[in-house]
Amino acid sequence: MLAEYSRSKTIFLREFIKNRSTGALCASSQKLARAMINNVGLEKAKSIVEIGAGTGSFTQLILKEKPQDALFFAIEQSPLMAEELLSKFTNLDCEICNAKFLEQMLKKRDLNSVDLIISGIPWTMLKDREQDKLLALIYNNLKRGAYLSTFLYVLPTLAKRKFTRKLYANFSEVKTSKLIYGNIPPAIVYYCRK
Ligand SMILES: C[S@@+](CC[C@H](N)C(=O)[O-])C[C@H]1O[C@@H](n2cnc3c(N)ncnc32)[C@H](O)[C@@H]1O
Repeated sequence: MLAEYSRSKTIFLREFIKNRSTGALCASSQKLARAMINNVGLEKAKSIVEIGAGTGSFTQLILKEKPQDALFFAIEQSPLMAEELLSKFTNLDCEICNAKFLEQMLKKRDLNSVDLIISGIPWTMLKDREQDKLLALIYNNLKRGAYLSTFLYVLPTLAKRKFTRKLYANFSEVKTSKLIYGNIPPAIVYYCRK
């Protein structure tokens, strides 16, 4: 357990130093993971996608709490992160790929929309255009009434404010979790309903 934790920490640090695409220096806490899967219909979802799974903080809970027969796959663009993910969850359906190819991945599984998307994407690290494209892709591939669950670190930045405005502008309803102090840095979850 301790070895797993320090391996995950090393991977996050290495990836952050290499290209910052992780957007975080360490994996999310279990408190944040719990908040990410609450009140988004996970228990009755038939199709679930996790984007930016990292080393599996959310994956672990999703696998534990999703319906047994639900179709679930994870997307992680970093081969190093994905390798760690697959070593923890050997039967995981995981695409080592950029989420911009979401539609192709859904098509491969005969899906054209899903019941739930749980995203660890470091939104504020993306360029405006990338954010817009990915957000539209997620929105277009959710069923009506389905949720995107995503989080942002609570830092008073313009990038955060700009991105939250996009969430409110795109989704029919956006609710937030309480501030999750037990995460480094503290975070807040956005439950975005199509
Ligand atoms: C902040 S980390 C979160 C990891 C994990 N979900 C957690 O909470 O500990 C973001 C993850 O998203 C991945 N990522 C970033 N952009 C991505 C993209 N466009 N497609 C797929 N994965 C992406 C990064 O490689 C990284 O593993």
